Amino acid sequence: MIFSSSTKSVPEVAKVPRHVAIIMDGNGRWATKRFMPRVAGHVKGVEAVRGIVEACAERGIEYLTLFAFSSENWRRPEEEVSLLMRLFVTALEREVAKMHANNIRLKVVGDLTRFDAKLQEMIAAGERKTANNTKLTVTICANYGGRWDIMQAVDKMVAAHPGVANYSEEQLAPYLALSYAPEPDLFIRTGGEQRISNFLLWQLAYTEFFFCDTFWPDFDGAQLDAAINSYQQRERRFGRTGAQLKSEE
Ligand code: IPE
Ligand code: IPE
Ligand code: MG
Repeated sequence: MIFSSSTKSVPEVAKVPRHVAIIMDGNGRWATKRFMPRVAGHVKGVEAVRGIVEACAERGIEYLTLFAFSSENWRRPEEEVSLLMRLFVTALEREVAKMHANNIRLKVVGDLTRFDAKLQEMIAAGERKTANNTKLTVTICANYGGRWDIMQAVDKMVAAHPGVANYSEEQLAPYLALSYAPEPDLFIRTGGEQRISNFLLWQLAYTEFFFCDTFWPDFDGAQLDAAINSYQQRERRFGRTGAQLKSEE
């Protein structure tokens, strides 16, 4: 099923966000503050992921999308990049079976061709194993960039429908990396920065934003509830007036 775009029709708004997308930022600073190497922050960060996946499942959130490694993160020191890759492998080794037991579907999106063959195979196996699970879909964005996503979708769309003079949003939608999910309702960035850093550029068109100073390793269910609570105070107008919304209630 392809979900419609918020710029084309007004989506139904649920009390609990259906789709939460998170930039998990601040691992390095969490560690540095404790006089630990940055990698210690990444190790703690994986634990925080486990907690938030569980918290989302408990709250009835249907889609959780996590920015784990951006297309720009290759610019980091080689040592940090290779440690992040190793952590990814061990996290898959440890977590996939647990996710499957909890009826959680795993998806990994991004330009995976830059990862080594073993990691690519593990990703494919994890996705295959959990493909029919229905409780919660967890998407890991790895070597992902919002601009990459739009460009790869355009390439695929043009290849599938060559020679069209005016392509539409609806024609592009099925080729975007997250075509299987509704657009995010709530975007969270931890770690104090207030920017998108080339995360989901297309899909965040009408998403509610929540920024917090907490470093990712300290982000827990209570913090998630604070974000959801803030989300629930918002008036999601999708271009309409507040009065129009009131008259619909
Ligand atoms: C986020 O934490 C994790 C990744 C980008 C892989 P950072 O590593 O960016 O932590 P800070 O922002 O340097 O504290
Ligand atoms: C964004 O964090 C990417 C991830 C969390 C994976 P960064 O730490 O890379 O973002 P910038 O460089 O501060 O914008
Ligand atoms: Mg950062």
